[in-house]
Amino acid sequence: MGYAVTAEAGANIAFVKYWGNRRQGKNLPLNPSISMTLASCVTRTTVELSETAGQDHIILGETSPGEKARHRIEAFLDQVRTLAAREERARVFSTNSFPGGCGIASSASGFAALAVAATVAYGLNLKARDLTRAARLGSGSAARSILGGFVELKPGARHEDAYAVQLEPESHWPELRDLIVIVSEQEKEVSSAEGHRIAHTSEMLAGRLDAIPSRAERIRQAIEQRDLARLGEAAEEDALSMHAVMMTSTPPLLYWHPGTLDVIRLVWTMRKENVKAYFTIDAGPNVHVLTTEEHLTEVEGRIRRRLGFQTIADRPGPGARIVERRAS
Ligand code: DP6
Repeated sequence: MGYAVTAEAGANIAFVKYWGNRRQGKNLPLNPSISMTLASCVTRTTVELSETAGQDHIILGETSPGEKARHRIEAFLDQVRTLAAREERARVFSTNSFPGGCGIASSASGFAALAVAATVAYGLNLKARDLTRAARLGSGSAARSILGGFVELKPGARHEDAYAVQLEPESHWPELRDLIVIVSEQEKEVSSAEGHRIAHTSEMLAGRLDAIPSRAERIRQAIEQRDLARLGEAAEEDALSMHAVMMTSTPPLLYWHPGTLDVIRLVWTMRKENVKAYFTIDAGPNVHVLTTEEHLTEVEGRIRRRLGFQTIADRPGPGARIVERRAS
């Protein structure tokens, strides 16, 4: 008899972005990154082992994944099997609470939920820190979604050194909001994995890496003091610095759409009028607007009315967790 193990994990938004990998594989980041785990944008994943199946069976949403995504998930399951010294294949069912193709990265919540469900299904009893390392093997940013609230992923040249730690739990700053502005629902053409690989070709990378330690310290302090202005200013700087590296890589990566710039300009206009809002942007055209509960209605209203974009408001959420375990 086996077990079907179901886990949930939230996506996350980084204030200091992870961009650029060490060359030896294993998603070893070049720089520390700091993020907030989200409460509403969640992936739910069930893993069930099969004594008889000759291969893994993977369903994402209603459908089987494309070949690339399937290989990535199978390779991840192979690493869990090696760790557990087990050989059974797995059935994996995964759904997102946020609409597919809405431009929210699902790799962080997806691999965090898979890491928790798969390690438990294969009989491993990993501590939180080891789970963050395991999730990182699937997707670098997934290491941060293992933990709730405000989380830092340490960089490192070896697997053991690159793990995530919680800076503060989600209860520390419940009023903080991430308003996700959907500029485009198009799938991105160049994956983050490819972007991390070519970051080395940018003449801006060295400057970015030099600037990060003091920026990361400002962000740690802003989180500790619940200081939105300090957090937002540093997060904007960091997003622009990461996109400068992207734009100056070979080949150049330009994730922005005209609407991305419209949101940036509107955020700056709002700030001049004393509406507290700051932007950050991941590897895509959508914009995450950082604000607080107090300003949310005003910020959301202005973005929708002026620019006509759909938005999703999210807040700090818990870490990855088992939500169901049943005999199968
Ligand atoms: C821009 O974690 O998506 O969102 O390890 O290839 O899955 P892989 O990369 P991924 O990279 C995250 C890039 C980012 C910044 C961040 O979340 O830190």
